[in-house]
Amino acid sequence: MAKREPLAPEDKKALNRTNLQKLLHILRFVWPYRMWFLAGLLALILSSLTLLSFPYFAGQLLDIASGKTVSWFSSINQVALLLISILLVQAIFSFTRVYTFSVTSERSLADLRLAVYRKIIWQPMSFFDSRRVGELISRITADVGTLHDLFTFTLAELLRQTLTLILGTAWIFYLAPSLTAFMLLTFPVLVILALVFGKYIRKLSRQTQDKLAEANVVAEESLQSVQVVKAFTNEWLEAGRYAKALTDTVSTAIRTARYRGLFISFAIFTLFGGIVAVGWFGASLVQRGELSVGMLFSFIIYTSFIGGSIAGLGDIYTQVQRAIGASERLQEILQQQDESNQPQHPEALPRFAGKITFRNVWFEYPARKDVTVLRNLNFTIAAGEKVALVGPSGAGKSTIINLLMRYYPVTRGEILVDDRPVLSVPLSAYRKHIGIVPQEVILFGGTIRENIAYGKPDATDEEIRQAAEQANALEFIMAFPEGFNTRVGERGVKLSGGQRQRIAIARAILKDPAILVLDEATSSLDAHAEVLVQQALEKLMAGRTTIIIAHRLSTVRKADRIFVINRGELAEVGSHAELSTRNNGLYRYLLSLQLQES
Ligand SMILES: Nc1ncnc2c1ncn2[C@@H]1O[C@H](COP(=O)(O)OP(=O)(O)OP(=O)(O)O)[C@@H](O)[C@H]1O
Ligand SMILES: [Mg+2]
Repeated sequence: MAKREPLAPEDKKALNRTNLQKLLHILRFVWPYRMWFLAGLLALILSSLTLLSFPYFAGQLLDIASGKTVSWFSSINQVALLLISILLVQAIFSFTRVYTFSVTSERSLADLRLAVYRKIIWQPMSFFDSRRVGELISRITADVGTLHDLFTFTLAELLRQTLTLILGTAWIFYLAPSLTAFMLLTFPVLVILALVFGKYIRKLSRQTQDKLAEANVVAEESLQSVQVVKAFTNEWLEAGRYAKALTDTVSTAIRTARYRGLFISFAIFTLFGGIVAVGWFGASLVQRGELSVGMLFSFIIYTSFIGGSIAGLGDIYTQVQRAIGASERLQEILQQQDESNQPQHPEALPRFAGKITFRNVWFEYPARKDVTVLRNLNFTIAAGEKVALVGPSGAGKSTIINLLMRYYPVTRGEILVDDRPVLSVPLSAYRKHIGIVPQEVILFGGTIRENIAYGKPDATDEEIRQAAEQANALEFIMAFPEGFNTRVGERGVKLSGGQRQRIAIARAILKDPAILVLDEATSSLDAHAEVLVQQALEKLMAGRTTIIIAHRLSTVRKADRIFVINRGELAEVGSHAELSTRNNGLYRYLLSLQLQES
C-alpha cells in the first residue's frame, strides 16, 4: 500500500537567521538584475505613498461639500481633479513596479533553473541511483516556481503592506489621535484572532484533503491493477476498502465544516462589530465637533487599508516560509559536488588503440556499500579483440561496463586503457572514445536525423546518411514520407525494437569510437530484422575493441574470447571451443541450458 507522505515540512519553517540566510543565498541570482529590482522597489514605494494620500483627499471632498473650508482647496472640482491625478500617477507607478519585478524574477529564475539543471545533469551516476527523476523535476519546476511567486509578488507585497501598516497608522494617529488609539485597541486584536482561527481551519481542511487523497489512492491502485482484482474476483473487497476510505473523508469534512461555520459567523460578527465600535466612537467625536465628517470618512478607509495589510502579512508569512523550504532544497542541490570541471571542448586525445586492463578491481555500488559486486577482477583485452561477457543474471556484467564507462569509481584496484590509468584522462575526452549500443535503446523526442547525430552533433547530412546506410537503417528511414526528418518518440512514429537498435548502431558508427560496448538485446527480433542488425553490428565492430554482453549463442561463438562472470568473479576465460568442452565448466552448463531451450 502506498503510504502518503507526511505534511510537507515546508510549512513549518521558522523565520530565524539561518533560514533567512538560506533564502538570501538564493537571492544572489537576483544580483545581476539589481538595477531592475531597485527601479521596481522605487516604483513600489512611490505607488504605496500615492495610494496612501488618496483617502485623505477623498475625505476633503466630503468636507468641502458639507460647507467646511479646508486649507488648500475651494471647490470639489479641484479635489476631484487631484484625486484623478493621484490615480493616474499611481497607475504609472504600479505598471512600472509590476513590469520591473517581472523582468527581475523571470530572468533571475531562468538563471536559477539553468544552474540547478546544470548541477543535476553533471552529477555522477551514483547521484541518480538514490533519487527519483520526479523529485529532481519538481526541484526545477515546483521549487523554482515557489521562488517565482516570492520574487514577483511576495517581496513586493511584504514591503507594500509593511509601508501601508506603518505609514497609515502614523498618519491617522496624527490626524485623529484619540480615535486611532481606540481603533488600535480593537481592530488589530480582532484581525489577529481571525487569523489564528483561520489557520486552525486551514489545518483541518488540509486533513480533509489528505483523507480524500488517501481514498483516491485506494481507487487508483485498484483500477490500475484491475486485472489482478478481477482475477481474484475481489471487486467487493476493493469496493469495501474504498467505502471505508470515503467514510473517513466524510466525517473529517463534516468536522471541518462545523468549525468553518463557526469561523465565518465569528468573523462576520467580530469584524463588523469592530467597525460598529470604531464608527460609534468616531460618530460621537463628530457629534461633539471634535472631528469632521470627511476626516471620519478618511479614517475609515485608512483603517480598512490597515486591516487589509495585517491580514495580508499573515499570508505573506506563510509564503516566505514556503520559499525558505524551496530554497533550502535548491541550495542542497547547488552545493553538490559535480563532474562539471570537465572542459566543454576537451583537448582531443589521440585515438585510443583500445587495450583494456582491469587490475585487482573491487567494487561495490555507493548506494549499497555492504554488497561486494566485483571481487578482485583481473583481465586484459587486447586492442581490436572481441570479448563476450556471459554469466548468470546479477553476476556483474553490466557493472563491468559501468566501471569502464567511469559511471562509478572503482573501490579498489584500477582500470587502464592503453596502459594508462583511466583516472589520468579527463572524463569527457575519455568517453568520446567509447561507444555504447545499449540493450534498450532510448531515443529522444526529435527527428531521426537528430537522434543519429547525437553521436556527433556537428555531423554533415552526408555523414549521417552514410552511417544510416552502414547500419542497415537507410531503407526503413527512407520509407517514411519525411525520411530523416521523421519525428520519433511520443509525438512521432514509434520505431520497432530492431529499428531503434539500428538507429543506435548508426549513432555509434558516427561517433567512431575505439572501444565499443554492446549490450545485446534480450528480446528476440524476427529472423529478418536479426540478420539486418547482425550485419550492421559486424560492420560497426570492425577494427574496434569490442565488449559484448552476449545472450545469443551466435554472438558468443564469434567472439575471440569469452569471459564467464560469476558472482563478481572471472570464473572462466577461453574461446567457445575450449570452454564448451571443459568438464564441469559453468560455460558448458549455461550452454546446455540454452540448447535445451531452443
Ligand atoms: N545501481 C546499482 N546500485 C546498487 N546495486 C546495483 C546497481 N546496479 C546493479 N546492482 C547490483 O549489482 C549486482 C550486479 O548487477 P549487474 O547489473 O552488473 O548484473 P548483470 O550481470 O548485468 O545481470 P543481468 O544479466 O541480469 O543484466 C546485482 O546484485 C545488482 O543487484
Ligand atoms: Mg546487465
